[in-house]
Amino acid sequence: MNPRTVTLHFATTLLWLWILVPYGRCKLRKEYHPPGYRNVAINELLELAQVPTSDSIISFSDNKETASSILPDQPSHLEQSQQLSDSDFVFATGSCRERMRLAKSTRAWRRGIRGFILTDQNETQALLRLNADGKPHNESFAFFPNDGDPLLGMARHGTMQGDTRAALAPFAAHRHYGDTYKWMLYGDDDTLFFMDAVKRLLASFDPDLPLAFSDNLWYLGAHPNPHAPRCLPCHLAGESLPSLKDILSTHYARAALRKQLAAAKQPTSEAALEAAAADPTQVPGRRYMPQPACPYCTPQAACAPITSAKTECKASVPHGGAGMIFSVGLLRMLPYPTALACLRSFEEASGGDFMVANCLWRHGIAFTDPGPLVRHLYDPHFVTFGAHFGQGYLWDPMGMLTHGRCNATCRWMLRNTLSLHIKGRHFKNWRVSAMHMWGVAHAAQAAKSFLDLLATGSGNTSVPRQHVPYGADLETDTVLLPRSKNQR
Ligand SMILES: *[C@@H]1O[C@H](CO)[C@@H](O)[C@H](O)[C@H]1NC(C)=O
Ligand SMILES: *[C@@H]1O[C@H](CO)[C@@H](O)[C@H](O)[C@H]1NC(C)=O
Ligand SMILES: *[C@@H]1O[C@H](CO)[C@@H](O)[C@H](O)[C@H]1NC(C)=O
Ligand SMILES: *[C@@H]1O[C@H](CO)[C@@H](O)[C@H](O)[C@H]1NC(C)=O
Repeated sequence: MNPRTVTLHFATTLLWLWILVPYGRCKLRKEYHPPGYRNVAINELLELAQVPTSDSIISFSDNKETASSILPDQPSHLEQSQQLSDSDFVFATGSCRERMRLAKSTRAWRRGIRGFILTDQNETQALLRLNADGKPHNESFAFFPNDGDPLLGMARHGTMQGDTRAALAPFAAHRHYGDTYKWMLYGDDDTLFFMDAVKRLLASFDPDLPLAFSDNLWYLGAHPNPHAPRCLPCHLAGESLPSLKDILSTHYARAALRKQLAAAKQPTSEAALEAAAADPTQVPGRRYMPQPACPYCTPQAACAPITSAKTECKASVPHGGAGMIFSVGLLRMLPYPTALACLRSFEEASGGDFMVANCLWRHGIAFTDPGPLVRHLYDPHFVTFGAHFGQGYLWDPMGMLTHGRCNATCRWMLRNTLSLHIKGRHFKNWRVSAMHMWGVAHAAQAAKSFLDLLATGSGNTSVPRQHVPYGADLETDTVLLPRSKNQR
């Protein structure tokens, strides 16, 4: 090497060190702070994320939630399912000025359901206007700054500028609404919830328990990872569930096992797959079967099936775009200041959903899987949050029905899928993605009405939709249905 090359080499190495070291090391060093860093007093932050009122300077009532109001003395169990109405729900999300049209397009599925939208709009007049315009749509808007903003002392708790705002949205929404709802739908501003399915799912749960639902979980860098640590609902304790061996013998699980073995440079012969499938060891993220938890899911319950002491069991992270559902009981447990303090402990976390899941985990809550994915042996068509396989059915239900391509799986999905990620960024502009939100929401309604018509067309033998247990497949699981008295 001539001296010039050596110098160049040296300079390149220095450049790499300069780039890599702050990310690799400083994240772990307590004393590292971004330029201009200021340790913001929590009281300053408590003033943010509130809906402004036109006649008063924003005032802060002390948080009404107290530790004593957290859990009912006796965990109450619902004797029978109750019908839910739109006023039992609120929707919370983080957005920004640029995406406001998309955030407002959630009206397509939210009709009548209150929405709380945390935005980067920092001008009070504009915020008041948003609130006034949103009133007929039951919308409230509040401001929270970007990560790295001077108002946050330049701190970056997430990697993207909207991460902390998104993470804070459910807690700010609870502070805003108080105990006036039962269930909070939480997702990105381009998450669509299918309310008929959501209402049927939640009818048999007690909103005063701290419950968090998702079956679209990140674990070991994969989502939806059906082997992510989580629980099943308490009421499945009486049901016969498949074993891990049953699950690992399916086509989907075999394909996943083969990939795992190949990645670990192990043989992938039929015999090797057979041996792997027969191994009952629970490895989080790779081979795992959740158990029903009563009365609700804790990290201990989510990790209980894992017996190997050397396997670490971490918080599974629900996919934010696929959305998640929280009970009011859960939000009572993490009042706004508690949640804020937790979120501030992160440095460049991988997303708002990561921060929320880990804060819940630290406060003793893990996610509950509604169950269909397990009942159907991890067939990815039965991922209920955001779906996985068969998303085409949800994007274009009318096309699928009219072309005769909506088979029993498609019909199950149209009735039971809880949410869909519209993926706003993937379209030409926000206007087009907002239009997709409207189209999908209304097509889903139309498809459901049509399926109901088919189901009731031949007389009065069918059970009204709202009485069909969530997840039951009308065409194959008829034994699960209560029989109507005058059945012929
Ligand atoms: C409001 O936000 C804009 C753009 O993010 C910024 O330039 C401006 O300084 C902010 N205003 C205040 C009062 O913080
Ligand atoms: C939603 O908004 C409408 C129209 O403003 C209003 O009549 C209704 O009471 C609101 N619902 C809730 C739950 O706030
Ligand atoms: C419906 O079609 C999908 C995709 O072709 C297929 O994977 C699924 O098994 C079918 N469902 C039934 C019940 O035939
Ligand atoms: C179905 O039930 C409704 C009300 O319960 C009744 O009015 C109607 O006559 C019934 N139709 C048939 C075909 O039995």
